[in-house]
Amino acid sequence: MAQLREHWGSRLGLILAMAGNAVGLGNFLRFPTQAAENGGGAFMIPYMIAMLIIAIPLMWTEWAIGRYGGSKGHGTTPAIFRLLWNNPISKYVGALGLFVPFVVLCYYIYIESWTLGYSFFSIAGLLPHPDPSLPQSEYLKPFKEFLSAYTAPSITAYLFFLLTVAFNAYILYRGIRGGIEKFAKLAMPTLFILALILMVRVILIETPHGTAVQGLDFLWHPDFSQLSNPKVWLAAAGQVFFTLSLGFGAIITYASYIRKDDDIVASGLSAASLNELAEVILGGSIAIPAAVAFFGVMNAQAVAESGAFNLAFVTLPALFSHLTGGDFIGFIWFFLLFFAGATSSVAITMPVVAFLEDEFGFSRKVAVTVTIIFTFLVAQIPIFMPKALDEMDFWAGTFFVVLFALLEVIIFFWLFGSSKAWEEINKGALFKVPKVYFYILKYVTPLALFVILATWTVSQLPQKLASTDPQVWVARFVMIFIISVQFFMVYLADRKRRMRDEG
Ligand code: TRP
Ligand code: TRP
Repeated sequence: MAQLREHWGSRLGLILAMAGNAVGLGNFLRFPTQAAENGGGAFMIPYMIAMLIIAIPLMWTEWAIGRYGGSKGHGTTPAIFRLLWNNPISKYVGALGLFVPFVVLCYYIYIESWTLGYSFFSIAGLLPHPDPSLPQSEYLKPFKEFLSAYTAPSITAYLFFLLTVAFNAYILYRGIRGGIEKFAKLAMPTLFILALILMVRVILIETPHGTAVQGLDFLWHPDFSQLSNPKVWLAAAGQVFFTLSLGFGAIITYASYIRKDDDIVASGLSAASLNELAEVILGGSIAIPAAVAFFGVMNAQAVAESGAFNLAFVTLPALFSHLTGGDFIGFIWFFLLFFAGATSSVAITMPVVAFLEDEFGFSRKVAVTVTIIFTFLVAQIPIFMPKALDEMDFWAGTFFVVLFALLEVIIFFWLFGSSKAWEEINKGALFKVPKVYFYILKYVTPLALFVILATWTVSQLPQKLASTDPQVWVARFVMIFIISVQFFMVYLADRKRRMRDEG
């Protein structure tokens, strides 16, 4: 089967697809709010340290694990972990690499569809246009009401959800080269241009309450006293993890379509650099400066703390509706988020698709159809139960990603073997990774991940487990059901393989 495996068409296409995987809503919303809450400019110190000792080494690990698996015809961790660590439980550990992306996909794609819906409302002039002379809280109210009515969910929200699912399915049907790569080559340059337009427009905003430049000053003003707070360091580690899409299995599957002697060291760094450009420069220059210009520094802290969704779907549209040509600027904002979301949602759909293709011999079309049908069904839960969405996000999107990343490094560097792992990373490299990373990967990265996981376990798990809300129970039940189905499929795939090997 290995010789039939599809490959990326070009290095540029691969880098853009991987950058598309990484650049998401987090770059434009999560990064600036995290930075504003955790020391402003000073946040960049733990951010960069975490980038160097956790994120970059893990990224190389995932690329290497994926390319290695792909060279043997496997694109997902149940099979790849077995190749790296010959133990009967390795395949079940690897099932986490299907569970995490699938569960996250089921709510991510719904949130992504809001950005498509709001793109449409903006360009059609259907968002509220309250009287600008109203006091701020009055002025914001119609936008809040619009969001609650839309996400109730409304029929329109449901229609845009269906449209978004169909769009994702269409790209996936066309395959790696003809679908994902082609889309990334269109979407990523467009995304950068839209973000640049928006950044320039935002920097020019001046209102009686403040200016965007004051917003930049608010965001980047360093508060070094915050660096003694461990919470700030955890937030930085969480953000670098999140922004590079680590621990989801999505990078591994994309990397499994790289030819076995092609470089991953430089390509990985290029994709990560594009993500950082989108995050620190563009992400840092849009949402928060706009909010400060509009509400003044005093209220901007409150805006940052009211959360990313409020910022995206209430505060910014409210601000744009004030400006001349505001409907079009709003459209640019939401369409930018839609492209950022779509290049990521196809990436988290791919692990399950690749698993069905590689391990059961399904054709691309059948694998995509089956995956999309299940996504559609499970997505009904987060659509109709917001608390279930939060529960799924905590387990799959926050806790298991770090656990999974820790397991990846241990399996690759400790069980497969550090010298073989090091060789895998550097195979075909345009330049070799500095030797200090050998020690970082072997000791520092796993230790750092362990500390993060242990801190969360102590500080958040008891409170999470104590919830008895019915919606939370539904989410738990569904997640247990999903992991059970996946365990069973992993078992079947392994039995099939053993019978083939023996027969
Ligand atoms: N990196 C994305 C962002 O910054 C979010 C994300 C995390 C993601 N893990 C993912 C997207 C896996 C796709 C696949 O918003
Ligand atoms: N917990 C994230 C936050 O605080 C949200 C999140 C986690 C998320 N994983 C995700 C969003 C994956 C999109 C995709 O912002």
